[in-house]
Order: sequence, then C-alpha cells, then structure tokens
Amino acid sequence: MRCLSFPGPPLFHHHTLLPLPLLLLFLFPLNHGPFHQLFHVLIPSTPQNHTLIIHELLPIPHTSAEDITTNHLPSFNTTTVHTNTSEISQGFIDGHLSVFNISTTDTNTTHAATINKGEVLIKKRTSLERIEVGLARARASIQRAIVNQNYTSYKEESYVPRGPIYRNAYAFHQSHIEMEKRFKVWAYREGEVPLFHQGPCNNIYATEGHFIDEMEGGQSRFSTSHPDEAHAFFLPVSIVNAVQYINKPARSYSRLPLQHLVTDYIGVISNKYPYWNRSQGGDHFFVSCHDWGPDVSKADPELYKNFIRVLCNANTSEGFRPERDATIPEIKINGHLFGSEAGMRPSKRSILAFFAGGSHGYIRQVLLDRWKDKDDQVQVHEYLPKDQNYKQLMGQSKFCLCPSGYEVASPRLVEAISTGCVPVIISDHYSLPFSDVLDWSKFSVEIPVDRIDDIKVILQGISRRRYLNLQRRVMKVQRHFVLNRPAKSFDVTYMVLHSVWLRRLNLRLPY
Ligand SMILES: *[C@@H]1O[C@H](CO)[C@@H](O)[C@H](O)[C@H]1NC(C)=O
Ligand SMILES: *[C@@H]1O[C@H](CO)[C@@H](O)[C@H](O)[C@H]1NC(C)=O
Ligand SMILES: *[C@@H]1O[C@H](CO)[C@@H](O)[C@H](O)[C@H]1NC(C)=O
Ligand SMILES: *[C@@H]1O[C@H](CO)[C@@H](O)[C@H](O)[C@H]1NC(C)=O
Ligand SMILES: *[C@@H]1O[C@H](CO)[C@@H](O)[C@H](O)[C@H]1NC(C)=O
Ligand SMILES: *[C@@H]1O[C@H](CO)[C@@H](O)[C@H](O)[C@H]1NC(C)=O
Ligand SMILES: *[C@@H]1O[C@H](CO)[C@@H](O)[C@H](O)[C@H]1NC(C)=O
Ligand SMILES: *[C@@H]1O[C@H](CO)[C@@H](O)[C@H](O)[C@H]1NC(C)=O
Repeated sequence: MRCLSFPGPPLFHHHTLLPLPLLLLFLFPLNHGPFHQLFHVLIPSTPQNHTLIIHELLPIPHTSAEDITTNHLPSFNTTTVHTNTSEISQGFIDGHLSVFNISTTDTNTTHAATINKGEVLIKKRTSLERIEVGLARARASIQRAIVNQNYTSYKEESYVPRGPIYRNAYAFHQSHIEMEKRFKVWAYREGEVPLFHQGPCNNIYATEGHFIDEMEGGQSRFSTSHPDEAHAFFLPVSIVNAVQYINKPARSYSRLPLQHLVTDYIGVISNKYPYWNRSQGGDHFFVSCHDWGPDVSKADPELYKNFIRVLCNANTSEGFRPERDATIPEIKINGHLFGSEAGMRPSKRSILAFFAGGSHGYIRQVLLDRWKDKDDQVQVHEYLPKDQNYKQLMGQSKFCLCPSGYEVASPRLVEAISTGCVPVIISDHYSLPFSDVLDWSKFSVEIPVDRIDDIKVILQGISRRRYLNLQRRVMKVQRHFVLNRPAKSFDVTYMVLHSVWLRRLNLRLPY
C-alpha cells in the first residue's frame, strides 16, 4: 500500500442532507422492487424433455421446504415442496406450481434453461450468468432477511446492525454479508501514475487516495484479478492528482483537460474490453473527493448516463443523482489517522454548540455574521485562538455545527461523529453519505440555512432525553465512518463499497 498502513483504529467522518429516497430495495422490500422480474431457472444438467408452460421461475437459496412455502413466495400459488437440495427452481407446470430437483455440486456444469415455445433449452453458463445468478441469490437472501427479521450467514458475525440508526437493519446486515461473500471489483490497469492508480493520502481529499490504494493495494478481499469475475469495474483515476498536475501548473480553472482525460480513458477501455459496452457503464464507477469531481461527466452526459460517480461533492442541485451516484465522506487526514476520540460524557459537555472554520461560501458567511464570537453557548469562531484545541472543543460540545463550505461536503461531519458530538447539518442539496442505509434524522439535527438565526433556540429546544438518544446513536454510528487501512467490515471503505454494491444489485445485465 502506498498510503501508510495505520496502526490502531483510525477515524473519520462526514455528513449530508436530504434523506435520500432510494434504494428501492430497502423501501419496497418485497413485491415490486427492482428485481421483481429477476426470475431465473436452474435445471438438472441432464436435460429432460418436458413440455412445460412456465410463467415465472425463481432461484431459492439454502432453505428448508417450510421456509419456501411460507415465506418466500407470497405471490405464488404454492404447492407441496419436497426437497432438501440446496437449490431448487420452481414454476407452474400445466398451471400447477412445481419444484424441480437441481444439481448444485458443480457450478460449472449447472445449466441454465430458457423456456421457448414450451420446450426447455439448455445452455452452458457464461461468467456473466454466474455473476447474475449470484446477485439474484443475494437479492433473495436480503428479501428473506427482511421477512424473517434476521440474517443468515456463512460465518460468525462480529457485529449485528440493529436499532433506529438504520433504515432497515435486517436488509442492511444481510446485504453487507452478501457483499462480503460475493462482491468483486476489478480495477482497470490502463493509465499511468500520477493521474491514475494513486491519489492523495492526506488532507481533505484523502478518501480519494485511500480508496484507490485500498482497491489496488493487493489486500482487499473485494479486488479480483479476473474481470470476468467482477460485479463492478473501477476507474482508478484521481481527479485531485489530475487537477494538481494538469491545472495547477497552468493556473487554469478549465475543466476541459479533466473531461478529456476521463472520456479518453473510457474510450480506451471500452474499445479494449467488452465490459463498458455491456452495461453502458452501469457497473462502472470512479471515486472523487475533489470539488471538481462532478464536472468530469458534464461534457458528455449521455456517456455517463449510467455511470456510478462516488463523490464527496454530492450536490443534488448540481446533477448528483442519489439513485445512481453515491456519496463518500470527506475525511481530513494529517499524516496519520486519529483514533476515535470519544470526547466527554454527555453530562460533561458544557458547550451547547461549536464551530470553527473559514468564511467559505455563502452559508458560512451567514453563520459567521450572526454568531461569530457573540455567544458563550453557541461558540462560533472563524479562527480558533492558538491555545485552543479544536478536537477537544468538539469533545466538550453537545452539538457541532457542520455548515457547507465552498462545496456541500465538509470534514466536520466525520469529526463531529468521531468526537461524539451530535452533528448539526446546515446545508442545501447535500446528499448525505450512506443515506440508503443510515437514517440521519436519528443521529443528527438539520437546520435550514434560513433558520441560522434560530440555532440557539432550536438546540435549546431539544429535550435532554432526545439529546441523549442522539448522542448515543452518534457513538453507535462511529464505526461506519472510521477509515482503517486495510479496510475492515462496516468501516467507511466497506460502506462506500456497499453503496456501489447496492447500485449493482439494482442493475440486471442480460446474458
Ligand atoms: C422431445 O424432444 C424431441 C427432440 O427434440 C422431440 O422430437 C419430441 O417431440 C420431444 N417430446 C415431447 C414430448 O415434446
Ligand atoms: C392456484 O392454482 C389452482 C390450480 O391450478 C387454481 O385453481 C387457483 O385459482 C390458483 N390460485 C391462485 C391464487 O392463483
Ligand atoms: C437431505 O438430504 C440428505 C442427503 O441428500 C439426506 O441424508 C437427508 O436425510 C435429507 N434430509 C431431509 C430432511 O430430507
Ligand atoms: C427429486 O428428488 C427426489 C429424491 O431424490 C425424488 O424422489 C423426486 O422424484 C425428484 N423429483 C423430480 C421432479 O425429479
Ligand atoms: C470450475 O471452474 C473454475 C474456474 O473456471 C475452475 O477453477 C474449477 O476447477 C472448475 N471446476 C470443475 C469441477 O471443473
Ligand atoms: C438470528 O440468526 C442467528 C444466526 O442464524 C441466530 O443465532 C439468532 O438466534 C437469530 N435470532 C433470532 C431472534 O431469531
Ligand atoms: C464499444 O462501443 C463502441 C461505440 O459503439 C465501439 O467503438 C467499440 O468498438 C465497442 N467496444 C467493443 C469492445 O466492442
Ligand atoms: C449546490 O449547488 C447549487 C447549484 O449550483 C449552488 O447554488 C449551491 O451553492 C451548491 N451548494 C454548495 C454548498 O455549494
């Protein structure tokens, strides 16, 4: 790994607004989700010459017969199920629902069937088909977890997500389990450093460099060396480095060189490999923390229509699409990752609200105009006096103000969470990180820009009981914003990958 390997639990965080709509998966768990048409049939490798009229078929993962009839096919006309084979397929035969036995011992010889004019046609599975079948199983397993309100796992679970910080803890947990078990990402090899394959390891854009390093450092369980095994394809471009090496020397603010760089790259990889064209870029992604990240796709919206952009600068009023793009937290790193500095216990936190930072952007101007050095309870500073410790003050505060700066994202969100300070999000159009999974309203406070005058009244109006709940949940959500190297289950890198995984689950490629 190029970015340092950090000892101990490091730490990060980030924030956002706009409780996201999606993912359909989580909000419409059963019937009409995006994979309702996702039915697939497996049949024994010895083709049988049935005359079948099959309307719908669906793969069923490991389960008992009772589970199948009672839980998994609520919309089906169920009938007797008598098998304990690990996979069965099911459909209507002559109007009656039936179950076939399936051979699963060797995936290489498991065949897929398509139904054509009443006959069963057999073909060998392609690699894409194997991937899609695996994804179908993952979806079924997530749906089952939602219904059963519990998970199934192939390993011991060290952490079981529960509680109101999650939109659907069962769905998330199972989805995370499935991701760890199956998800493979292939990083394109093309491109030269420093524009590709390495990014910043320090400062406010560090999550960009660490992510690239994590995917290409050879230690990630998610990296695959075979593109045919990949569910998602990573473009290892660093927008921060591109700006550094292309724009800075020329003192140029033009976005054209960046746009050309990435568009040309896509041209190269889409000519050389079949993957981009296969999905129109829908299973491809890049990660950028730089403010200009979103501008890359502006030159050719059609090309990037399906592309997954993982951005710090997730401003929905500048084209960020929460159902397709994903937010990565901004985490400021100065040479080392700082550990989870829990700060004071709630009862010892003497400052109501705290902020220190430059007058960047219109929101901060309003904030500083109204509150700068004016109130003991709402401590707002433009520059912190030298003898004061920023993190310590956060750890002594009940609430930490996280206004947007020049762009929507700010490292304060992660800093607040890591110091156990309830984030107060003051932003417009910010799509908060991991909103598919996390319910931000349960561990943060949102104050609209036009109510900045009322900050004190609003925060004082929060009952002690509600504050204690918020604070407890902030502590709970910390693990999702910690940056570990190498990455660990449920940490910020896993959460980013999970965002991509969810978007891949919503995509079904024909094979
Ligand atoms: C079975 O398949 C053979 C060859 O494809 C076909 O000639 C025959 O009609 C089929 N039998 C039935 C019952 O469909
Ligand atoms: C179930 O199948 C039986 C027999 O084919 C049929 O009579 C009945 O209408 C079906 N019920 C539903 C809900 O589809
Ligand atoms: C399940 O299958 C195995 C072997 O195929 C068999 O030994 C076992 O008895 C079966 N269990 C049930 C409940 O049918
Ligand atoms: C499925 O397997 C069981 C046990 O091996 C067998 O009795 C049954 O006939 C099989 N069903 C089908 C449809 O092949
Ligand atoms: C199945 O395919 C994989 C990879 O294509 C191979 O490694 C494995 O040996 C094959 N298994 C069998 C039983 O042929
Ligand atoms: C949930 O599933 C786990 C693992 O299968 C099991 O140990 C646990 O008892 C289950 N919990 C409930 C409430 O069913
Ligand atoms: C992908 O599509 C582009 C544009 O249609 C085409 O030029 C390119 O050759 C295709 N790539 C492959 C690998 O077929
Ligand atoms: C978000 O985008 C809108 C539209 O371009 C812009 O007016 C606003 O300033 C952006 N928000 C931030 C915090 O930069």
